[in-house]
Amino acid sequence: MSPDDPLVRRAADPITVALTVNDRPSRMTVEPRTSLADALRDELGLTGTHVACEQGVCGACTVEVDGEAVRACLLLAVQADGTEVRTVEGLAAPDEPLHPIQQAFTDHHALQCGFCTPGLVMTVHHLLAERHGVDDGEIRTVVSGHLCRCTGYQGIVDAVRHADRTWDRPIGDGSG
Ligand code: FES
Ligand code: FES
Repeated sequence: MSPDDPLVRRAADPITVALTVNDRPSRMTVEPRTSLADALRDELGLTGTHVACEQGVCGACTVEVDGEAVRACLLLAVQADGTEVRTVEGLAAPDEPLHPIQQAFTDHHALQCGFCTPGLVMTVHHLLAERHGVDDGEIRTVVSGHLCRCTGYQGIVDAVRHADRTWDRPIGDGSG
């Protein structure tokens, strides 16, 4: 089948996706092969979602889709049609400079270059939004799903523990 074949061209035709991102209705027109990570970055300018391995290993691209932490490099933007997406840009409330999880990462030196940080923060947000009193073993298991070349991880574990204590949240509400 040649690239000029009408079937091939139709498969590559841009598709409009409507979704809610950080509480705002958003529309973007993307090629069917575009990942959600690339669409967030390139179409909506939300470059806090980082892209590294593009195969679901490093965790840098993690966002929440309908309240679940997902690797945005593995999800096509068209699969996110109709969903509610939250990125690191949408964590802090309008009246706070940083979300309590972000503040805990700052206070515990849980980042150096910061490349892994947005994805980690989103995974931790998903973990802590569900419950209080997460134990160290669970924190280490969750954090181990993210590659960080800088910190040695102890500061990240300390930050998650601290955020668990300081983030005033109603359990079961994944927002803010
Ligand atoms: S870029 Fe998505 S998991 Fe690495
Ligand atoms: S802070 Fe540099 S990769 Fe984690």
